[in-house]
Amino acid sequence: MSLVKRISFKNLGDSRGDLVSFEENKNVPFSIERVYCIINTALGESRGFHAHKELKQVLICLKGSCDLLLDNGKLRESVKLDSFQSGVFIDSFLWREMHNFSSDCVLLVLASHKYDESDYIRDYSEFLKVIK
Ligand code: TYD
Repeated sequence: MSLVKRISFKNLGDSRGDLVSFEENKNVPFSIERVYCIINTALGESRGFHAHKELKQVLICLKGSCDLLLDNGKLRESVKLDSFQSGVFIDSFLWREMHNFSSDCVLLVLASHKYDESDYIRDYSEFLKVIK
């Protein structure tokens, strides 16, 4: 079983350029309550290093690339995000880290809930305890 749940987004573009659409409960498997973007990540910096208790997310790299590492406490899997036509669904209770951001990387995150710090598990040993 792969931890990486890919979602394909159709390119609705034409000769004028590309266009991609994200619709809640259609090509995104939850109601979207929040959208945020990770941009201009400093060279060599990584992000994430947490899991969520409730939150579900879809990550789409609109420009450039980065590596997404997913970990369920048993398996660790890494995937390159480098296309606006391919997102990754991250369910709750999955540890995630993002590495190797290209300088032009624009990472779009669609999230099922509003920001709530109490939903985060930021300590890896606590994550391992919680998922047991
Ligand atoms: P954080 O989730 O730690 O970033 P990442 O996991 O991508 O490295 O968020 C960084 C800071 O921004 C932290 O202080 C919380 C704040 N934040 C919000 O206020 N709202 C949000 O929607 C997000 C994602 C973060």
